[in-house]
Amino acid sequence: MDEKEIEELLQKYYCKDMHYEDGRILGSMYTEPPKIALKAFFKFYQANLGNSGLYKGTAEMEREVVKFLLRLASGKENFFGHVVSGGTEANIIALWAAREMGYKRVLATKDAHFSIRKAANLLKLPLENIEMKRGKMNIEDLESKIKENDIIVATAGTTPLGFIDPIEEIGKICQMHNCFLHVDAAFGGYIIPFLRELKYTNKKFGFDIPAVSTITIDPHKMGMAPYPAGGILSRENIFEKIVIEAPYLIEEKNDSLLGTRQSGSVAAAYAAQLYFGWRGYKEIVRRCMENTNYLVKRAKEEKLEILEMPEMNIVNLKVENVKKVKRELYARGWAVSTNPKYSSIRIVVMPHVTKEVIDKFLDEIKNIKKNYGL
Ligand SMILES: Cc1ncc(COP(=O)(O)O)c(C=O)c1O
Repeated sequence: MDEKEIEELLQKYYCKDMHYEDGRILGSMYTEPPKIALKAFFKFYQANLGNSGLYKGTAEMEREVVKFLLRLASGKENFFGHVVSGGTEANIIALWAAREMGYKRVLATKDAHFSIRKAANLLKLPLENIEMKRGKMNIEDLESKIKENDIIVATAGTTPLGFIDPIEEIGKICQMHNCFLHVDAAFGGYIIPFLRELKYTNKKFGFDIPAVSTITIDPHKMGMAPYPAGGILSRENIFEKIVIEAPYLIEEKNDSLLGTRQSGSVAAAYAAQLYFGWRGYKEIVRRCMENTNYLVKRAKEEKLEILEMPEMNIVNLKVENVKKVKRELYARGWAVSTNPKYSSIRIVVMPHVTKEVIDKFLDEIKNIKKNYGL
């Protein structure tokens, strides 16, 4: 086929997909990256940090991204980190390294991301559920179940509600029992430092809590980078716990989960962080929170029930027939996600979810309510 024909065919499929810039994807933690990040992605599309000896420039950019992630996580420069394919891989690596260090069992709440269950399953680590109190880890239940050499997974920005587990208290309990504390801040890592500066919260989630061993923070969520770009950080060098010999590679070793690592996104994450900088990310969080508050206010005006007041830019609207509302919205071109357990539809107020989008969305909800009830 000639290129023109191929392009036409690609366009046909492109039109079938949803796109962030259309402002109708309301349930996703991703958004449209800045153009310079996409340029960087394509410039470095060949880069593969699975064979980092060939890509010394990209490896340097990875260190710059890790440095920024460490700043978000209140970590020191001599801590360790990698850019990986996403939060799932980062969580698997953390638990894998912990298991290699002799930790034996995972404790997490049901609102911990499913990648924790996947990791426990893959690693054949028993997984014990810790009860929640209003969407956060229940400290009393943790105290009653914790044992020496457990791996505790706390979440800073839970997937369903955007809540922050009480990580400082969890940290104290972990220290008393010699446990490994992994913090999943895949979503919240690029939010909480700015929520603190903007006086929305005074909570900590990072390495300034002495018990925290590893942290997941994803550039491809609120870091505005194109996927695949997750981040795994550690206080000790966990990567030497999972390193494997690979004589066919320039460096002759591999210390990640994947072999080949698409690393155009490392260049892209670096470009995004240069483009926004600390101040730019803070402004993004400020706007997302302003729009979150706008959504809450407008929803209340429409007599819709808010499940819990949001702690970050995730809003849950309580509805009776979650599946039906999701289906009706989808048929009208809107993609929301749902929390069946909480009987709510979940809106992640990413930068493309503007006030105009919110108004249009609430009009749609009003129509559905009028026709079917909620
Ligand atoms: C808290 C949390 N951790 C991990 C993940 C997994 O990230 P990924 O989809 O990049 O693998 C998500 C995804 O939404 C998440 O919300």
